[in-house]
Amino acid sequence: MSQYIIETENLTKNFGRFKAVDHINLKISRNKIQGFIGPNGAGKTTTIKMLTGAIHPTQGHGHINGYKMGSKNGKALIGYAPAESLFYSDMTTIEYLVYIGKIKGLKQSDAVNKACELIQYFGLEEATHRKPIHFSSGMKKKIIVSQALINDPKVLILDEPTANLDPTARIQILDILQKLMIERDISIFISSHILSELESLVNEVTLFNKGKIVLSGSLNEVKQKYSKGIYKVRTSDNNLFVDKLMEHCKVLIKKITIDPSGDLLITIIPKGKEKFELIIGPIISHYKISLIKFIQEDVSLDEIYKDIYK
Ligand SMILES: Nc1ncnc2c1ncn2[C@@H]1O[C@H](COP(=O)(O)OP(=O)(O)OP(=O)(O)O)[C@@H](O)[C@H]1O
Ligand SMILES: [Mg+2]
Repeated sequence: MSQYIIETENLTKNFGRFKAVDHINLKISRNKIQGFIGPNGAGKTTTIKMLTGAIHPTQGHGHINGYKMGSKNGKALIGYAPAESLFYSDMTTIEYLVYIGKIKGLKQSDAVNKACELIQYFGLEEATHRKPIHFSSGMKKKIIVSQALINDPKVLILDEPTANLDPTARIQILDILQKLMIERDISIFISSHILSELESLVNEVTLFNKGKIVLSGSLNEVKQKYSKGIYKVRTSDNNLFVDKLMEHCKVLIKKITIDPSGDLLITIIPKGKEKFELIIGPIISHYKISLIKFIQEDVSLDEIYKDIYK
């Protein structure tokens, strides 16, 4: 069994002569949350629509848990929450969820049970017999995400589930996604522009632009790659430590400054990180220096995004 629940090969979508998605090899791991990030018009929704089988690729193909993308079996494993919420004007929340459940092949009684369970899970009890068409954006989004779960999917695909929501509604949706991830055997693929919120949620990221994957991997790998190579260090004798660094590995060091708290900020040359980390141990043990703090400064998704798209 592949480690990926979804894999595509050269997935491509042309609109006329315009390549909206251009030969992408996307990989979504099992039981992980992957962020799909890119500017407006990058091709995120087009990609998502191909994954869900809503539109056909011009070229290339993909598999969902081994089933062909767009096939009945493949589609049955996916729950999809589109960016735009469209509701029937005469349906209540429960009627809507049951209706979607039946479209997905559930029996009436199973659809009702599942709809009730989801209403509870999403805290929508007081909306049960009201019509979503009149709801706030936050409530509508919750219903759109809940309908995507009606068939207990293996993969939940969410197109900007927190767009235009206030911070409270956003946090509620993100908390539910986190809870889903912990409680169920599910993978989540989520497109968003709000990188700070993705940062605390996702394990993997794919950065996307002009129909192509720019960068993809685990959040840690991506952060390592874009790390500025700055270490925050405090020792029992900072002066001696700096002297010995300059004596033993001057070539690896770009800059050393001191921050307001007295910690050393040591900037390493690109590709020098591995050697630098290896040399620290022998220096401190040989000169009997205690290492009190040794932290590689984190780089945010926002900074990575700015670096890539500037
Ligand atoms: N049906 C269509 N016909 C022609 N062009 C289309 C069609 N759908 C999308 N496009 C074009 O394909 C490109 C990618 O659109 P897409 O909606 O996938 O981007 P996106 O990354 O989801 O953007 P956003 O962040 O604004 O939602 C855009 O230039 C868009 O105009
Ligand atoms: Mg879109």
